[in-house]
Amino acid sequence: MEGNGLRNIVLVGFMGCGKSTVGRELRKRLGYPWIDMDHRIEQEAGKSVSAIFADDGEPGFRDRETDLLKRLLASDTTRTVLSTGGGVVLRPENRDLLKRLGYVVWLDTPVESILERTSRNHSRPLLRTEDPEKRIRTLMREREALYAESAHLRLDTAGLKLDEIVSGILDCARYHFAGEP
Ligand code: S3P
Repeated sequence: MEGNGLRNIVLVGFMGCGKSTVGRELRKRLGYPWIDMDHRIEQEAGKSVSAIFADDGEPGFRDRETDLLKRLLASDTTRTVLSTGGGVVLRPENRDLLKRLGYVVWLDTPVESILERTSRNHSRPLLRTEDPEKRIRTLMREREALYAESAHLRLDTAGLKLDEIVSGILDCARYHFAGEP
């Protein structure tokens, strides 16, 4: 993408919606750096997201998310792809920071795909429960409006291939940034 303005693309959406996979692919297509927030937080803390939840509770993890978003904004991060954690939209302050950081895309993925993808990986503390499906449906209901409020674009990924998702995002982002210097 041409121009000198802020050209960050920010991916939000529920756990297992493909934010990291799509982020990696956008990095390839755009040649931009890619930041995965969970990974960055783990690197900085020197421990896993699960260990942060265990030691500092969910609020401790959320503080780290807010702090990272503020630092990215303060350091004038540009031409970067950012994959967030699924709960980043919970704090009103974060929703504002996300929008100021760049073009926010909500990967809206059907619950069946979320269930399938999250069941393959047990690293998510919020899904370590007797009934992960019930937890997923409850959290999705609680968060849907927050993703909608945070995002410039809602992309329904049902039935789309990775390549189609990435091309769709790039077309819409070009249009969004077209009017900027
Ligand atoms: C969370 C999502 C996770 C991670 C943490 C909390 C959430 O990231 O940030 O386990 O609250 O939805 P992914 O969306 O990458 O799984």
